[in-house]
Amino acid sequence: MGYVGHRQALDVVLGGLRRMEYRGYDSAGVAVLDGAGALTVERKAGRLANLEGALSEHGLDRFAGTAGMGHTRWATHGAPIDRNSHPHRDASQRVAVVHNGIIENFAALRAELEADGVEMTSDTDTETAAHLVARAYADGPTAGDLPASVRAVCRRLEGAFTLVVTHADQPDMIVAARRSSPLVVGVGEGEHFVASDVSAFIEHTRQAVELGQDQVVVISRDGYDISDFAGEPAQGKPFTVNWDLSAAEKGGHEYFMLKEIEEQPEALANTLRGHFDRGRIILDEQRLSDQDLREVDKVFVVACGSAYHSGLVAKYAIEHWCRLPVEVELASEFRYRDPVLDRDTLVVAVSQSGETADTLEAIRHARDQKARVLAVCNTNGAQIPRESDAVLYTHAGPEVGVAATKTFLSQIAANYLVGLALAQARGTKYPDEVAREFAELEAMPAAVQKVLSTVDQVRELSRDIADSKAVLFLGRHVGYPVALEGALKLKELAYMHAEAFAAGELKHGPIALIEEGLPVVVVMPSPKGRAVLHAKLVSNISEIQARGARTIVIAEEGDDTVRPFADELIEVPAVPTLLQPLVSTVPLQVLSAEIARSRGYDVDKPRNLAKSVTVE
Ligand code: F6R
Repeated sequence: MGYVGHRQALDVVLGGLRRMEYRGYDSAGVAVLDGAGALTVERKAGRLANLEGALSEHGLDRFAGTAGMGHTRWATHGAPIDRNSHPHRDASQRVAVVHNGIIENFAALRAELEADGVEMTSDTDTETAAHLVARAYADGPTAGDLPASVRAVCRRLEGAFTLVVTHADQPDMIVAARRSSPLVVGVGEGEHFVASDVSAFIEHTRQAVELGQDQVVVISRDGYDISDFAGEPAQGKPFTVNWDLSAAEKGGHEYFMLKEIEEQPEALANTLRGHFDRGRIILDEQRLSDQDLREVDKVFVVACGSAYHSGLVAKYAIEHWCRLPVEVELASEFRYRDPVLDRDTLVVAVSQSGETADTLEAIRHARDQKARVLAVCNTNGAQIPRESDAVLYTHAGPEVGVAATKTFLSQIAANYLVGLALAQARGTKYPDEVAREFAELEAMPAAVQKVLSTVDQVRELSRDIADSKAVLFLGRHVGYPVALEGALKLKELAYMHAEAFAAGELKHGPIALIEEGLPVVVVMPSPKGRAVLHAKLVSNISEIQARGARTIVIAEEGDDTVRPFADELIEVPAVPTLLQPLVSTVPLQVLSAEIARSRGYDVDKPRNLAKSVTVE
């Protein structure tokens, strides 16, 4: 984040970092320009709180000034220790740089600098940028011109980066640049901001400007000026943030994640709102015509983590409704295996952040192969929607907890809208069937609300299994991706060994893992909607129970057949089969958050993770 204005920069920057800490929390740092030629830096490994401690210890007076910048880090190059923390400075300590992303040619640049006698003080790729800017500013065609120096350096950098740069000689400006990594400008009255994310400045202004690829912005008190890397004037895209500060605050909850779990009914309703009009599904900001959708002969869903699980759920619906083959692929694998794509392939890129580098590279590959790309995204104007042919926003509101919750449910709902739009255009469903499916989706916020009212039982259960060595998750059909999501949540939040299996696969090997007392969570299908599958899963449960497993069963209310096999029964409302993941995921989210809490872990900021993964 960077700031130039009329307030004390340190307060503004720390406030912004507090809201963006979910993006990375390996270290934090600030730099403030006092206007009289001093540039003061403090940086510290660990959470922002460590930095705040160091600032108070060393005296806040040193940080008076109305221009400054800050950073929270998710380590890529160099261990998360003090000297690798941002901001990084050049040898004269006049230039400070913070950076997100990876400078891929940093080894060559570093060797060049070292050959020239520069002594590196960190193991990071970022430090090379600080030295290069200082040199460009000191000498040659860009001497004395900070924006031109930054542009010249950017032209030499390879990879993905957002840079924020200050120079002690230029206390009235902050220069920032971006390539394939996010950066937005905040426009206030007599003050301007740059940040990775609008949450950094939402407290001060909701007016923002989105920067394009390979652009540089200079902010000052009175304005902002955008150019491309060659120095040609460029235009940003102004927008107004449509949520306010309260959405980005905990609102009385101990953790953001718990708040976000509770916000799921509203998030789902917001995702669906406005998508059905005069008997038809409307895909927001659709730049794909019905004709385009009719031409589709194959769908790929590409995504990572929870978003990938939402794609696995969607496969069942889209194949069933549209009679189209659907492949769901981990974005990080997609482009490395030469997938068969052409103009008639629809690639649905699901990403809440819209920044995930793996997914971004996957869609670039897809578009190179002439496939059409539809982004399902929760972040307005992020890179993935910008590089897609069409976008469907999920409107779940900001998600601060690192583990996806409300955005996951919203992704499932949005993917279903894609399926219904395809079915409608291709005529594989009659209009009244599409209307009925949409009405069933619209009933889901109430069903999720009902699940939320019964989660106390899950809280108690979490205390019982918090000391287990491992937990297994089983499901079939759409219950299988739910099991995968449950296991991912438990791994990332509670650091427990958790694995999910398609229940039918158990007998092909994993059943050997079952031992006395091992908790096994089973996601049951509806006994009415999927009677055959239900019966098979009941047999699977009895097999593991016979071998000593402790069975925790998520089943439809009134499902009495499963009761004898459930050591713990968690009931969820009866809903149509394809919509079951929207209710059965919720207890699993609560379970992992509560286990993490009872094990004493930070639910919002699990170790080694960051909300937005902008490196491949
Ligand atoms: C898990 C989680 C991650 C993300 C994944 C993709 O709780 O949050 O697995 O789902 O990193 O992120 P997006 O959706 O931003 O592309």
